[in-house]
Amino acid sequence: MSGALPTHPRFVSLEGGEGAGKTTVLNALREALREGGQDVVHTREPGGTPLAEMIRGLLLDPSHEPPAADTELLLMFAARAQHVHETIRPALERGAWVLCDRFTDSSYAYQGGGRGLDAGWIEQLERQVVGLRPGLTLLLDVDVGRGRERTRGRDLAPDRIESERDEFFERVRAVYRARATAEPDRFRVIDASAPAAEVAAEAVRLLRDWMARA
Ligand SMILES: Nc1ncnc2c1ncn2[C@@H]1O[C@H](COP(=O)(O)OP(=O)(O)OP(=O)(O)O)[C@@H](O)[C@H]1O
Ligand SMILES: [Mg+2]
Repeated sequence: MSGALPTHPRFVSLEGGEGAGKTTVLNALREALREGGQDVVHTREPGGTPLAEMIRGLLLDPSHEPPAADTELLLMFAARAQHVHETIRPALERGAWVLCDRFTDSSYAYQGGGRGLDAGWIEQLERQVVGLRPGLTLLLDVDVGRGRERTRGRDLAPDRIESERDEFFERVRAVYRARATAEPDRFRVIDASAPAAEVAAEAVRLLRDWMARA
């Protein structure tokens, strides 16, 4: 396989491990874009369309037998294909900004790093069923223990992936960092151990820089 996948400048993804602060930062980015008068679509993975949200439910539900790693990867890509067709491409085509809470980098990190699936296979799926990368990806990088501690503050029961062991999330973090190093034009790494307001301000600053260049 050769050739870089196309990127779109108004497509922005947020990545990072559990409790890194993705959802918190995304809300700040959405407000900043709206204040600037931009049309913004705020979406998430797995999910982002009614069908893809149903696949999310299947993926995260701890009540049935755990899917095999391959099954998990294929369901993630099934949801992503639907999300790209139904939500992301139409929004970009009409001129909106798309802010996405996780995208394909999460599959490399979780199903590749975490579960040990072959990155070459993930890349094949990415080419065949996604065909698009964000122009800008903000990676919120934080110590695994600190991130998990933040999510324990929620009263929801942990979902199937959140219940993995720390070693799993250390592998996830290592893949994210390696991808950021390999693609410095697309990724910006933010130290997410800082207070939430500082992390959000840094993310908004990086997005404004990006908009000025895009
Ligand atoms: N920089 C920060 N410092 C301290 N607490 C934070 C910070 N950012 C977010 N939080 C808090 O930590 C918790 C997790 O944040 P958030 O939901 O944004 O993370 P997330 O990356 O979206 O998590 P998940 O992977 O579970 O979706 C929330 O309670 C949030 O208020
Ligand atoms: Mg979140």
